Formats: sequence, structure tokens, C-alpha cells
Amino acid sequence: MNEPEPLLLAAARGRNRGRPPVWIMRQAGRYLKEYRDLRARYPFKTLCEDPALAEEVSLLPERILGVDAVIVFYDILLPVEQMGAPLRFTDEGPVFLSPVATIDQVEGLRPLDLSNQAPTVLETIARIKRRLGRDKPVLGFGGAPFTLAAYLIEGELGKSGEGIRRAIHRDPKMVRLLLARLAESMHLYLKAQIDAGADAVQLFDTWAGLLGPSEYREFALPYEKRVLEGLPHTAASILYVNGGDHLLEDMAASGADVVSVDWRGDLTRARERVGSRIALQGNLDPAALFAPPEEVRKRVRAMLESRRGDPGYIANLGHGILPDTPLESARAMVETVKAFSG
Ligand code: CP3
Repeated sequence: MNEPEPLLLAAARGRNRGRPPVWIMRQAGRYLKEYRDLRARYPFKTLCEDPALAEEVSLLPERILGVDAVIVFYDILLPVEQMGAPLRFTDEGPVFLSPVATIDQVEGLRPLDLSNQAPTVLETIARIKRRLGRDKPVLGFGGAPFTLAAYLIEGELGKSGEGIRRAIHRDPKMVRLLLARLAESMHLYLKAQIDAGADAVQLFDTWAGLLGPSEYREFALPYEKRVLEGLPHTAASILYVNGGDHLLEDMAASGADVVSVDWRGDLTRARERVGSRIALQGNLDPAALFAPPEEVRKRVRAMLESRRGDPGYIANLGHGILPDTPLESARAMVETVKAFSG
């Protein structure tokens, strides 16, 4: 009757007695030859928006690496395009063609329409869930309001996020309205993904690490909370902030079940800082996968040793896997976690 709970969901709830579960941020991507072959035939958006193709791409890392969870193939920016902001993916990254600068432009964005024009990602999730059954969790995801606003305001994002950092001081009213609009749509969007079959959802506040603690508490955290608050308890939630080590205690107050630790942070310290109430995910440096596989195994074992016996720990990288990562190293990482006796 009582089927064993998948490792990732047990860990997200702080009750995993087995080995840690493992998946890899950006696991369906360019380091896989099978992905590059598909990309040679289809534009990125087509791969995201055609549920049969997106299903195929989503399942590649499960088939090739044997990861413990499948994240649906899509992008955090596509729902924003559906709200009325034209978007192009270029070789240099995503670009919003009409950056948002005024309240009128914010008012011109429409709420994400999930009933009429349901994003195809919901169908992809349902397909993956049907294929995988109950044992292997399906992860949905969304962008957090601050990160989406950073893209919308800057058009294309530089490393410093100066555009949004200026905007929150120049026109806080406009920024707050934009964040509120995005939070409302993203809440409904994650809820729809859970209804479609997602077992957990990851909220990417990739760019919020550019903020100092007081700006994070004012312009990122409240909107992360609004997205996460009231999501069905059947699904676990994970919050990731790139470069967010200085924000960890605040991230833990977002309402997420899991905080994902950036590679610059220390997992043992992170556990001391957030207490036992919340699960941790991470945090091998994606660059460490450029070491020979034997060295990768050693580093992964050291990471796992540091969390030995922790019932709320999910093994992962500290950010997305890099496009030219050797497959053998990614495989060494996954195999090492799966061979570890918790
Ligand atoms: O494998 C997975 O994780 C699932 C799919 C996924 C993609 N993007 C596919 C993708 C996920 C979860 C994302 C999240 C995402 N997208 C984030 C947050 C995660 C993070 O890295 O911090 C951000 C900031 C974006 C926006 C975005 N989309 C950027 C900056 C880029 C270009 C640069 C890059 O890193 O690839 C994209 C395009 C994109 N999204 C690709 C993929 C596989 C590459 C597209 C290609 O094949 O050319």
C-alpha cells in the first residue's frame, strides 16, 4: 500500500533515510550530443514548445545519466513572452525586444492566460509524468519575479544587473508594480504545473544574488513568497539564487522547502545557518566537472561526506552544467552519488 517515497521528495521534506538523490541543474542541454543533434534540426523555441520534442529532450538526462529527477524542458522567459513581451533567443542569450521602462508598459502586460492558451509546458509535464510513473519525480520550474523583471527592464542582461539595480532606486513604484504582476502570474503558473503532474517546482531567482540583503528583502523575497505561498502541499518547492550565499537566511524565509546553495557557499555552514527545518541542495562547482572523472568522483564524495546522515540533502551542482562539460564527468558525478551509502 505505502509505496516508498522517491528520494528527492523525501529529502525535500527532510526525511530521507537513504542515499542522497541527485539531479543536475540545466541537465537537458548542450553538453549532450543528442541535444545538439536535435538543436541542429530545430530552433530552441520549437524544442521548448512542441510537447513531443520537449518530452524527448527532458528525458535525455534520465536515459543517459540516470538522474533521480526529470526537469521539464522549457525556459523561464517563455511565459513572460506569453504575457506580451516579444522575446528572441540569440547566440548571445535571450533578448526582450521592447524593454520595460514605464508604468504604462507594465500595465500593458497581460496576466498569463493558463486556461485559454495553456502553455505547452503543461502538456509536456503531463506526458513526462505518464512516461515515468510515480517513482521518478518530475520537476517544473519558473523564474522568480525579480529575475524576470531584470530581463524585462534590461532587455538583455549584463553580468552586473545594473539596469534593474538602477530602476529600483529611480522608479521603485514601476518596479514594484511589475514584480507584483509577475508574482501573480508565476504563482498561477507553478500551480498549473503541479496540477499537470509536477512533483516539485524550482523557482529560479538567478539574478537576485546581485542584490544586497536589504534590497533582496524589499524587491526579491516578498515576491518569491507570493509565488510560493499557497501552492499545493503535495509538491515540494526549491529556491535557487545564483551568488546567493550572503542571502541564505533570507532565502530560507521564502517558504521554499529546499534552498539551493551556490558553489561559493559551504554546505556545512549553510546547514548551521538555516537550521534543520529546511532542506539543502547543491553545490559542486560546475567547473569542477572539467577535472578527470577520477578527480570528480573524489570531489563528489567529499561533498557527500560533508552531508552524511543529513535527511534533507539533494546532491546537485551549484549552478547549471556548462555547455561543453565532458559527459564522462557528469556521469561520474551521478554514479558516485548513487553508489554512496547514506
Ligand atoms: O535542463 C534544464 O534545466 C531544463 C531547461 C531549462 C532551460 N533554461 C533551457 C535552456 C531551464 C530550467 C532554464 C532556466 C533558465 N533560463 C534560467 C535560470 C537558471 C540559471 O541558469 O540560472 C535562466 C536565467 C534562463 C534564461 C536563459 N535561457 C539564458 C540566459 C539562456 C542562454 C544562455 C544559456 O545559459 O544557455 C537561455 C537559453 C536556454 N535555455 C538554453 C537551454 C538548453 C540554450 C539554448 C540553445 O540550445 O541554444
